[in-house]
This record gives sequence, C-alpha cells and structure tokens, in this order.
Amino acid sequence: MIKKEGSFKYLEIKNISKNFGETFVLKNIHLDVFKGEFLCLLGPSGCGKTTLLRIISGLERQTNGDIVQDGLLISNSPTEKRDFGIVFQSYALFPNLNAKQNIAYGLENKKINKKEIEKRTNNLLRLVGLEKYSDQFPSQLSGGQQQRVALARAMALSPGLLLLDEPLSALDAQVRSKLRNEIKLIQKKLNLTTIMVTHDQTEALSMADRVVVMERGHIAQIGTPFELYENPITPFVADFIGKMNLLKGKYDKKNCVFYYLNNRFLISQNTEYSFLENCLLGIRPEDIEIIKFR
Ligand SMILES: Nc1ncnc2c1ncn2[C@@H]1O[C@H](COP(=O)(O)OP(=O)(O)OP(=O)(O)O)[C@@H](O)[C@H]1O
Ligand SMILES: [Mg+2]
Repeated sequence: MIKKEGSFKYLEIKNISKNFGETFVLKNIHLDVFKGEFLCLLGPSGCGKTTLLRIISGLERQTNGDIVQDGLLISNSPTEKRDFGIVFQSYALFPNLNAKQNIAYGLENKKINKKEIEKRTNNLLRLVGLEKYSDQFPSQLSGGQQQRVALARAMALSPGLLLLDEPLSALDAQVRSKLRNEIKLIQKKLNLTTIMVTHDQTEALSMADRVVVMERGHIAQIGTPFELYENPITPFVADFIGKMNLLKGKYDKKNCVFYYLNNRFLISQNTEYSFLENCLLGIRPEDIEIIKFR
C-alpha cells in the first residue's frame, strides 16, 4: 500500500457490512483513503460499489461498521451534516436553472453573500471550462457539459471529499477520455480526496492512485494500478485487470517446474509454496511469444 509523504488517513471505512433483508451486499469492508488521494472502486455490475459510495455519503445506512472522516465518527450522521460533494451517472441537474444557477444552488442554501457566490461560481465555471455557457439551461448543454456543471456543483462548497459514481459512463468515448483528464487535473490541483466508482478498468487504471477491486460485496484487492497488474492475488483480479491466461496444474518448487497436463513449464519465480497439488499458472498475453516450428 502506498502512503505518500505527509499524507494521513482522511477517510476510514471500518468493517462496513450491508444487507438488504436477507441479501448481503457488502461484507466487512476495511478501507483507508489518504488525504488528496484518488481512489477508484472497480468491479463488475452488482458487486456493491454504489452501495458503498452511498453509505459513505449517508444516503444509505450500513448494517454494521463505522466511518471516520477527518478524525470524526460520522457513521450515524445525516447526509446534510457530512462533508462531501457527489456526482452521479445521470447528470441530475435542476432543469429549470441555468449552468451558473445550478452551481450556485448549494451556496445560496448556505446563505453566503451574493458577491461571494458570484465570485465562487465564476471561478468554478472557469475551472470546468464553461465560462461561455453560464446562462445555458441543461437542455441546451451536451452530456459532457452537463457533467462539468454537475462536477462544479459538487465542488461548490469546497467539500473535503468528492464522490463520483460512474460520472463518465453516459458519455461517448471521446468526451469521456477528455473529461477523464480534466477531472484528474482538477482533483490534483485542489488536492481533493476523491472516490470514484467505475466498472471500466481503463478508466480506473488511468485515473486512480489506488484501485479497490471489488467482487461480490467484498474487497478482492487494493493496490496501485501497477501492483494490481503485476501482482494480482486472486484469479478474479488477474483476469479483471488486463487479461490473463490461467492454467490449472501442479507446482514443484524444488525443481522449479509447473506441470500442466503433459507439459512442464520451467519457473524462475520464487513463491512461498514448496509443492502445490492444485494451483494456477498465470501468463499475461504479452509475455507469450509464438515461434514457428521448423
Ligand atoms: N435498495 C436496495 N434494495 C435491495 N437490494 C439492493 C438495493 N440497492 C442495491 N441492492 C442490491 O445490492 C447489490 C449491489 O448493488 P450496487 O448498486 O451497489 O452495485 P454496483 O456495483 O454499483 O453495480 P453497477 O455497476 O451495476 O452500478 C445488487 O445486487 C443490488 O440489486
Ligand atoms: Mg452502481
């Protein structure tokens, strides 16, 4: 696990579980998020990513476990008392308010004076590259522009935590890739602790400092994109992050051999195991070379 110089645990998710009736959706989730970190929750549909994000925001209540944000126990705090901004997959803008009014909405509710609101919304419009669109209504904006407004709105109250639930998945590939870079730049510039849900591995690997791979309600592995690719700890992670050929066989450490059907693979890599009757040999496609047999 990486821990940057001077960084501290901004968000601590402690043993969070959630069930809806008889169905367990999250099981014993432990997770620390460092200040300024960009963390991605990555996993297949239905694995519990949105539920975890909603629990962090207070929109959903955990069955068990605790959440500590910036040293404060917030497990039972109502949503409005929590310090976060959120962006959903669907833009969820107010259709009757223009871009600027959408961004200013939360500020006006906080009774901040008009001059300050004007200054902050203009800064935010500039930050997301929408100065020219401030008077446009959501129906007059493209999907990418609407998502920029949603992002600016989420950041308007300078939250300590930014939560993004598949913010780019409704956009076409080109806009998506552009916004990916922009979100990342803004996040780094503001050193804003961010958790983004995605089921797109390219998105997770290109944006996140660390990725949390989730599988059926639990954490399969946490690591930097490099760690997950180089050292996946389960077949699921190996196949979910990139592609992996998995061969089932036997491993003999003494002779550095892996037996697969009638084949012997010589292994140079050391593992902690001496002999394994049932194990998997993982080979990345790019490590295989086909040679013409003469
Ligand atoms: N309010 C609810 N009542 C009952 N079951 C729910 C509720 N909300 C979520 N679930 C179930 O919990 C599981 C996890 O749902 P969740 O929305 O967290 O998945 P996800 O990882 O975000 O999936 P996706 O990638 O499709 O958005 C699913 O099986 C879902 O049906
Ligand atoms: Mg979801």
